[in-house]
Amino acid sequence: MCGIVGYVGSKSVVPILLDGLKKLEYRGYDSAGVAVIEKSKILVVKSVGKIAKLEEKIDAYTPEGNIGIGHTRWATHGRPSDINSHPHMDCTGKFAVVHNGIIENYLELKEWLESEGHEFVSETDTEVLPHLIEHFYRGNLEETVREVAKKLDGSYAMVVMAKKEPGKLVAARKDSPLVVGLGQGEYFLASDIPATLAHTRDNYIINDGEIVVITKKGIKVTDMEGHEVKKEVFHVEWDAIAAEKGGYPHFMLKEIYEQPKVIRETFSSRLSEDNKEVILKELSLTPNEIKNLHNIFIVACGTAYHAGMVGEYVIEELARIPVTVDIASEFRYRKPIIGKGDLVIVISQSGETADTLAALRESKKAGAKVLAVTNVVSSSVAREADDVLYTWAGPEIAVASTKAYSTQLIAMFLIGIYFAQVRGTIDKAYAEQLITEMRELPDKADTILEDMAGLESFLKKYAECQNTFFIGRGLDYAVAMEGCLKLKEISYMHAEAYAAGELKHGTLALIEDGVPVVALATQMDLYDKIVSNIKEVKARDAQVIGVTFKGNEELKKVVDHVVYIPKTERLLAPVLTVIPLQLLAYHIAVARGCDVDKPRNLAKSVTVE
Ligand code: G6P
Repeated sequence: MCGIVGYVGSKSVVPILLDGLKKLEYRGYDSAGVAVIEKSKILVVKSVGKIAKLEEKIDAYTPEGNIGIGHTRWATHGRPSDINSHPHMDCTGKFAVVHNGIIENYLELKEWLESEGHEFVSETDTEVLPHLIEHFYRGNLEETVREVAKKLDGSYAMVVMAKKEPGKLVAARKDSPLVVGLGQGEYFLASDIPATLAHTRDNYIINDGEIVVITKKGIKVTDMEGHEVKKEVFHVEWDAIAAEKGGYPHFMLKEIYEQPKVIRETFSSRLSEDNKEVILKELSLTPNEIKNLHNIFIVACGTAYHAGMVGEYVIEELARIPVTVDIASEFRYRKPIIGKGDLVIVISQSGETADTLAALRESKKAGAKVLAVTNVVSSSVAREADDVLYTWAGPEIAVASTKAYSTQLIAMFLIGIYFAQVRGTIDKAYAEQLITEMRELPDKADTILEDMAGLESFLKKYAECQNTFFIGRGLDYAVAMEGCLKLKEISYMHAEAYAAGELKHGTLALIEDGVPVVALATQMDLYDKIVSNIKEVKARDAQVIGVTFKGNEELKKVVDHVVYIPKTERLLAPVLTVIPLQLLAYHIAVARGCDVDKPRNLAKSVTVE
């Protein structure tokens, strides 16, 4: 998401930091900054906007020095602004910190630090870090970073500099990438390899729970107990373009593989400390308003609309409120009956989609409250809605949405469970079970990604087909729609998604010998029904790929191939079911020689009607 660069050596540090930050621009960012130790003072320059704006500020006065840190920020906590940009400092100007990730317990830490007299200037979660370091510093930065790291919940890659230890950078990592570039008498720290590739191809990949100290003379890596860790050199063979993709051939594949992490980031700070309840602090909607809601309308476009289809099932089932899902370009013109007492949930990765924004405005005009689910802080949708629930997927570069979709699904579950708690329509045990299962989703998604790694040649085998069908019932139908869209968007193969019970009302006429049908069978209450529908297509000689939970030995008796996913609660299944479909679309598109990340005729953000 954000980008980090650090340098210790003999060269002038500012050009190295700026160059490194530019190499991370592809990740998307909204502000940038650097901190340099100059004559035993820490100088910080930062600016909202592009790196060019930071350079303008630096041109006015370039800090001199050979040690520094730099950052590109992609806003999560707090809007993009000069003050919210990194590096952040403590009250005394003795420490500067850059950070990627999310400190989940920052509010608690901030309140405590404020009670101890610390003064905060930004709205960020990151700012607790320099204040914590200031608070616990007793002359040894490495020890302090270790002590502070133990107090943090959430994810971080952080790099810290201290005025009193001017030849040194200390870094720590948990669930957010960090690498050390190994030079001759100089060392680099970075969130991603492209930032340092111009200087060295030899790196240490830092693991969770490791603390790094770099000086001009060398590098030390230790664990959280202070024991030294032996690292192996990772020699990068990739070129600069491949490095931007983290070694993956396409951004889309990289983003598919980022899903376990971003799913976790989206739910984890929204659960109570004992993980038994969902808490959506960001909502201004009062419990009374939630209890008295008449109707919910979910409005979105493309993939976000498909996330809304899942939201419709989940929110209606859990919170017992009538939910309607609509395509924004239809909703805005169909004169929907909405008004006071209704809630409109708009879902938009970019937060800038013209039709979604227009639907939001229509809804507000009609007197409804609007809750935005978006991935971009301070986007138009976020600014204009009454409330915002951010998905923390990080910048999504591939046009076809993958990780943003899975975080939108998590947002739907969080809203569903939270509304159900408030309205008393869910019993505590079931809410706890759903939350427990939600917390297991990242590991289960990881398992699918590992299992699917060997299936490439199997998936590619469908590349020559002309038509494909995706079928499912209930929530599986919503996922079938998304899997189908992925395939069409990036492989240009004709595909259709059907509610499986609807096949016999027309679509069966299109099923003939060898036509691939992807049949989703995770909604066990409808299992017998989908099996009947599978038999209908098998009777017409379709090639059926079934997707179901591990342990289901029955499905393979009626389909040609089964893709197994780990078992989870019925309502949460879409988060896992979609992964094999994303990979199917990806591998077919690659085999067909398509431009996976930039499919023809499509745009990432559609800001015109
Ligand atoms: C475009 C993109 C889709 C996306 C849709 C909605 O069509 O190509 O991938 O799902 O817009 O975008 P939003 O940013 O509103 O989620």
